[in-house]
Amino acid sequence: MVNLVKASFIAFSVFLVACAALSKAPKSLYDEIGGKPTVEAITDNFIDEISFNKDIYRYFEKTNITRFREKFIEHLCVNTGGPCTYTGDTMLKVHQGQKINETDFNTTVDLLVNAMKKAGLTYPQQNQVLKVLAPMRGEMLYK
Ligand code: HEM
Repeated sequence: MVNLVKASFIAFSVFLVACAALSKAPKSLYDEIGGKPTVEAITDNFIDEISFNKDIYRYFEKTNITRFREKFIEHLCVNTGGPCTYTGDTMLKVHQGQKINETDFNTTVDLLVNAMKKAGLTYPQQNQVLKVLAPMRGEMLYK
């Protein structure tokens, strides 16, 4: 009986320690910026920004925007550590043949920054998102 009490006490203690460890786990960037509603808001704002910019919109003239919206949300979710699966094409495949130059790339990044600001991201949060996307630049430029 004493052993059973001891064992239960140990098990309970282990449980408490695990809970404490879990509660201290750092939040993902996805959670920090507000999760699904924020990622959706960024994407919708981004699509708005693109539609009002003739230099960038010309790339999207033949794009299925419903698909773009879905894949961009998944992509942003996964890359900020959210619980999603990306089902779109690789960045290389999608942007290949578009011959995106640096000026247009930078303009698009500005549009994304506007979209993030409108969705309520703080300046450091905007930078953290850009930091995650920055390494993909090489897969998009001059392809
Ligand atoms: C900021 C970095 C960028 C990211 C993270 C990004 C991400 C994406 C994603 C996730 C898709 C959808 C993929 C799919 O449908 O399977 C996509 C499509 C597309 N992106 Fe980007 N993109 C970026 C920059 C750009 C730039 C700079 C341009 C052009 C100026 C551009 C033009 C396009 C176009 C036109 C499509 C649709 C292609 C189609 O109609 O099939 N993207 N992008």
